[in-house]
Amino acid sequence: MLPTVISQLGERFQTHHLWEVSDKQAFLREIGPRIRGVATSTLYGRVGEDLLGHLPHAEIIASFGVGYDNIDVDAALAHRVVVTNTPGVLTEETADLALGLLLATIRQIPAAERHLRAGKWLERSFPLSASLRGRRVGILGLGDIGKAVARRLEGFAVDIAYCGRRPQDVPYAYYPTPLALAEAVDVLIVLIPGGAATRHTVNGAVLEALGPNGVLINVARGSVIDTQALIAALREGKILTAGLDVFEDEPRVPQELIDHPGLVLLPHIGSASVQTRAAMGQLVVDNLVSWFSGKGALTPVAEVMGILAGV
Ligand code: GLV
Ligand code: GLV
Repeated sequence: MLPTVISQLGERFQTHHLWEVSDKQAFLREIGPRIRGVATSTLYGRVGEDLLGHLPHAEIIASFGVGYDNIDVDAALAHRVVVTNTPGVLTEETADLALGLLLATIRQIPAAERHLRAGKWLERSFPLSASLRGRRVGILGLGDIGKAVARRLEGFAVDIAYCGRRPQDVPYAYYPTPLALAEAVDVLIVLIPGGAATRHTVNGAVLEALGPNGVLINVARGSVIDTQALIAALREGKILTAGLDVFEDEPRVPQELIDHPGLVLLPHIGSASVQTRAAMGQLVVDNLVSWFSGKGALTPVAEVMGILAGV
C-alpha cells in the first residue's frame, strides 16, 4: 500500500498492518474481532471467507485498484461487508498504456531498442515490422477503459469493433461473442474484468480466429487468456504476436513467453504512474473516511450497488 495511504489512514484510524505480521492466524484471533474496515489492493492476496471469518465486525473492504477479482464479493455481502474499488481515476492512464503497448508490440519498439543497445545497428538495420494502419481493432469489453481506448484509436486509421454484454450507443461495429469479434478483427485488446466468469475467454479458438496477422493486447487480467493456448498459438504461428501487461500467476511469467523475442511483456503497470496511483490511494482513504463518518461508500463495486439499489 502507498505510504501516503498508510499515513493518512494512521492519522484517522487505529491501524494494523497485516502484511508485517508473521503469525497472521494468531494476530487475527486476537485483533480480528476489533477490525471494522480493511484497506487492501488488487495486487495483494485474496480476500475471502478465510479472512472475513475472522472479522465479525468488519463493515467495509476498500480495495486499491479497479479490478476486484481478488475479493470474494459474495462472501463479503454474506458478511454484510461493503466492497469499494477505485474506478474512474485510472481510466485514462490505463488506456494510454494500452495504446503504448499496442504500438510497442506492432512496431516492435522494445526489440528495436534492444537491437540498438546491443550495438547491432552497426551490423545491420532492424527487421521491418508489421503496421497498425488499415487494421480492424477489436475491443473485448467496452467499459470505461474500453471506451477510452476506442477514443484514442479514432486518431489512427483503423476500424473499431467491440464485444460486450450488449450493443451500446457508439459508432463501432458490435459483435455479440468474443469468437465473432476475433473472426472480424486482427487486433484484439482485452479489457474485460477478471474472475471466474471470464476465465480463459480468450481460448485457442478465439486466438485461431484472430489469424496469422493477429495481435493480442491484454491490460485487464491474465486470467482472461488461456496462457497455454496462447503459447501454442504463438509457437504454431496462429497469431503474430502479443503485448501483455498482466499474467495468470503474477509476478511469475511463463518462460515460454519470456523466451519469445517478439512479445512485449510488462509488469502490470497499467495504472502505475505517480499521479494515478496517488489518486487511487486517495480514493481508498476517502471511501473509508466517508463510510466511517456515516456518509456511505463513495465507489462501491457493482454488486454492492445492485444491493443498495434493491435490484
Ligand atoms: C489494476 O490492475 C486494477 O485493477 O486497478
Ligand atoms: C474494464 O475493466 C473496463 O472498464 O473496460
